[in-house]
Amino acid sequence: MVNDNNPTDPEKGYNTLTEQTDSDDLGNPWGTSPYQRTFAWPATTDLLPNIEGTHVLLAGCGRGDHVEWFLNRGADVVGVDIAGKAIATARDRYGDVATFRHGSLTDVSELVEGSVDVILSHLVLSHIESWKPIFAGFREVATDSTILVITTVHPQYLKEFGEVEQYTDTVGFVSNWGSVDLPTYYRPMSLVLNAITTTGWRIEMVHEPVPPEEFQEYDPDRYAAALERPELLTLRAQAD
Ligand SMILES: C[S@@+](CC[C@H](N)C(=O)[O-])C[C@H]1O[C@@H](n2cnc3c(N)ncnc32)[C@H](O)[C@@H]1O
Repeated sequence: MVNDNNPTDPEKGYNTLTEQTDSDDLGNPWGTSPYQRTFAWPATTDLLPNIEGTHVLLAGCGRGDHVEWFLNRGADVVGVDIAGKAIATARDRYGDVATFRHGSLTDVSELVEGSVDVILSHLVLSHIESWKPIFAGFREVATDSTILVITTVHPQYLKEFGEVEQYTDTVGFVSNWGSVDLPTYYRPMSLVLNAITTTGWRIEMVHEPVPPEEFQEYDPDRYAAALERPELLTLRAQAD
């Protein structure tokens, strides 16, 4: 099969992936995957504040797989995503109880009305080359007490996965989800942290979570590898 996906276009790639929804498929990039259910999502919720009564921005909300978690805990949700098909799916599922905006996080301050109390970006940022404008945009829609939580692929994992030779710069490469190519960017830990601390955020916590034993049954090799080098980076910051 010819893969005509433009590797520089995450929208096109994730539009295709929106239609691939087999929950137990290890290649599923969405919230229903064993990877997210057993590992990434619990590691993320560990860092979230009490969200009852808050206005939450899901920055890169995908198909809305995590929206219900927030609604069940008394939050209002606005989701932004670059993939029009993912946003359409999220609207079909939760359009009557949450708000969704189609667009890139590079334009987040134009897409979100007013301010939000909590911002979560879950497994999105590794597709974006320049992070400072993203975190500056998050700060524009934040109040002085907004909490920002990000979960992203760990730089050490991306360096190995992308076969990046030098560690000092941001390096783009193409990662492959089945037949879909996606742009992916490695950057060193210093650039990760400085993009946040120089745009009006104070980092409160940084975690390099290990997968729970439960993940072993889905992918024993990846489980073993994830005990040897970090796979995920989760981080919580407060507006400064
Ligand atoms: C691995 S999926 C995760 C989706 C969702 N956060 C979840 O956990 O199910 C990555 C998401 O990032 C979105 N994305 C990638 N680049 C983006 C950008 N520049 N702006 C907004 N969304 C983006 C994709 O469309 C996709 O929905």
